Amino acid sequence: KIVPVILSGGSGTRLWPLSRAVLPKQLLPLVSDNTMLQETLLRISDWAEVGEPVIVCGNDHRFLVAEQLRQINISPKAIILEPVARNTAPAIAAAAMTLKSEDVLMLVLPADHVITDVTAFETAIRSASTCAEQGKLVTFGISPTIPETGYGYIQSGQSMGDAQGCFEVARFVEKPDAVTAQQYLDAGNFFWNSGMFIFKPAVFLSELTAYAPAIVSAVNNAVAQSYQDLDFLRLFEDAFSKSPSDSIDYAVMEKTSLAAVVPASIGWNDVGSWTALKDVQPCDEDRNASRGDVYLRNVKNTLVRAESRFVAALGVSDLLIVETSDAVLVAHRDFAQDVKSIVDHLKSSG
Ligand code: GDD
Ligand code: MG
Repeated sequence: KIVPVILSGGSGTRLWPLSRAVLPKQLLPLVSDNTMLQETLLRISDWAEVGEPVIVCGNDHRFLVAEQLRQINISPKAIILEPVARNTAPAIAAAAMTLKSEDVLMLVLPADHVITDVTAFETAIRSASTCAEQGKLVTFGISPTIPETGYGYIQSGQSMGDAQGCFEVARFVEKPDAVTAQQYLDAGNFFWNSGMFIFKPAVFLSELTAYAPAIVSAVNNAVAQSYQDLDFLRLFEDAFSKSPSDSIDYAVMEKTSLAAVVPASIGWNDVGSWTALKDVQPCDEDRNASRGDVYLRNVKNTLVRAESRFVAALGVSDLLIVETSDAVLVAHRDFAQDVKSIVDHLKSSG
């Protein structure tokens, strides 16, 4: 049995002004009428081996998350609430601790990814499950196309004969610098880490205990003193806030010798920026992607999103234009990564 563990904790600052702290990108309908969280759940919900999901999210988002599950008729196994954000390693550890006495695999899925080839995804998960049953921490490898420095890189090793489609991991490097990323791209036997994982809860916890014992002891206490409140499992704040803040990638995947990778051509995109979002949306013949009440003339390769007002653009190209009721973004597409600096500015200016 596979239990999906959905990480719904990020804030998606590069998708400002649509994505906000109160309504981050995973809770927004970015690519369809369903929100990204709903898409993530629906993608796998009718697979026979997949059970009810565990959602891990921030306390502030609990009612939105519960309501979005209800809308698509999915009843969760648990909704675990983080009183404070401590990154992915503690979030995954909390889920693992609630599952460790069951004979299940946990499939860790970020709530905000696009996967267009669901059939290939299902095949990849099947290979990865076999490998995870053998005690591996299995990653899904995406063929890299650019020397992106915001991803983890996985160097694949020997094929694991008895688990078809699985390879040993020679090296896992989280967010290398640009020169190193280019070397990995040139080398050819590197994949991007997709940020999805499958493993036995007990295997993950024993590796986390080996490499990040302070996270394990803090989260252990937070789970031991957690309590059920309506549909929610509330982690004990005093204990959870004592956990170091770290990602699974740095805390475990770079260090473990149990990593494996399943290469996966699944149309994956983590929709990390407005340009990434534009790339997964249907375009007109001038490569414009627009949504809402929009008028365009002589506009090329531009994303226009009108949420609450009419937006018109004339004779421009390569722009990102996003209108919401209280803020408007106009940026050249080459500055897509810098959108988060606007959020930093707003935070610091109060
Ligand atoms: N519940 C919870 N709590 N979820 C969280 C938290 C948290 O404290 N922090 C992050 N998440 C969720 C995010 O919402 C996102 O869906 C996922 O976990 C990954 O977090 P990111 O912050 O987006 O990580 P990243 O993009 O820097 O890097 C990861 O993803 C890349 C692929 O998108 C790494 O796994 C990289 O190795 C990987 O290449
Ligand atoms: Mg990310």
